Amino acid sequence: MKTTITEVHKYVGQEVTIGAWLANKRSSGKIAFLQLRDGTGFIQGVVVKNDVSEDIFQKAKSLSQESSLYVTGTIQEDSRSPFGYELLVTNIEVLHEAVDYPITPKNHGTEFLMDHRHLWLRSRKQHAVMKIRNEIIRATYEFFNQNGFVKVDPPILTGSAPEGTTELFKTKYFDEDAFLSQSGQLYMEAAAMALGKVFSFGPTFRAEKSKTRRHLIEFWMIEPEMAFYEFEDSLKVQEEYVAYIVQSVFKNCSLELDRLERDKSKLENIATPFPRITYDDAIKFLHEKGFDDIKWGDDFGAPHETAIADHFDKPVFITHYPTSIKPFYMQPAPDRDDVVLCADMIAPEGYGEIIGGSERIHDYELLKQRIEEHNLPLAAYQWYLDLSKYGSVPHSGFGLGLERTVAWISGVEHVRETIPFPRLLNRLYP
Ligand code: 4AD
Repeated sequence: MKTTITEVHKYVGQEVTIGAWLANKRSSGKIAFLQLRDGTGFIQGVVVKNDVSEDIFQKAKSLSQESSLYVTGTIQEDSRSPFGYELLVTNIEVLHEAVDYPITPKNHGTEFLMDHRHLWLRSRKQHAVMKIRNEIIRATYEFFNQNGFVKVDPPILTGSAPEGTTELFKTKYFDEDAFLSQSGQLYMEAAAMALGKVFSFGPTFRAEKSKTRRHLIEFWMIEPEMAFYEFEDSLKVQEEYVAYIVQSVFKNCSLELDRLERDKSKLENIATPFPRITYDDAIKFLHEKGFDDIKWGDDFGAPHETAIADHFDKPVFITHYPTSIKPFYMQPAPDRDDVVLCADMIAPEGYGEIIGGSERIHDYELLKQRIEEHNLPLAAYQWYLDLSKYGSVPHSGFGLGLERTVAWISGVEHVRETIPFPRLLNRLYP
């Protein structure tokens, strides 16, 4: 019976064959332990000299790391292994012998591992992170589908830019200039006027010259947009969504969290409601904490965000930022026009901002004025202005950065390990 490692619980006491790679091995005189991986998981294969032919035992002892195999054996329960099962090997067929696999069990430097990202992905840690990433994506679709949202795909090649024009990747679009999308938001607003509640999930591109553990040049964003939702309504969706994905990972990726040595107690109690603090109060709080480098009107840097986040054990919303440091489309607060109805959600434990969102301006004249004030080319935004010209309604939305969210939930220090092939400031390969 051919099976995969995640399915072996169905075959306890039976003989199965697994297509696998040799991740690692060790042997003592009469017994060889093979660490096998097949993509679905990891299992230990045990080869006992007295139970197999001399030929098989010698083969097991001489196998090289990452050789591909068909391994046949009997599945046994094993309470000592975190996985709970092991394979008592009866036969090994070598499909391909890997010679001098570059990533050995010893420690390698990050640059070396990044140069070998196409192979590094095979390691236990990277496997766990990719499984958690996949679970967050799965739970995202589940959450939004269960709550009546329609998935809409905005374009990647765009003519207009929502988040300012300094970080755009420019490319030729026949005779015109085009930009790689830095956010699908404006298109999602159009879609919300057609379909009510929508969400997108796609790659976004920022030519940011930032070399930090939170910045990628290409990252994936989930962008919900909701017609007739005001600022408060949107905050509620955001906290429910984030609590939902954390609980999904907690429930469905227990093995992976253990493999990453994630402190699960930090995730267990992530439930709604999330705390909130206004930008004004955040500035006061930072001054009390001795941050003299920041004044009203400045954007927060990573140390500021971390100081605020450390005060709470759940993600925190920082709301009502100054109009001057936010994009053109944000709705002014009803009682004062120097701040806007926006919120950033800051993850605990120093992982930084995972969500940016706001209520959108839906007054045609104000929106036009803001586009002009931001020196954006009106012609490129004419279609967007149409949304507030024909049956304009209050609406809100937000964008969650997938990689920062994966980093936080997995407890991985740097976002470069949360995406299969990271695009960084100085890295386009592999
Ligand atoms: O705050 P941002 O720039 O918001 C927008 O783009 C809005 N248009 C979204 C919307 O309202 N539909 O980005 C949203 C999130 C951030 O909170 C962060 O998690 C992530 O995207 N992000 C990055 N992640 C990795 N690398 C980068 N360079 C990122 N820039 C933003």
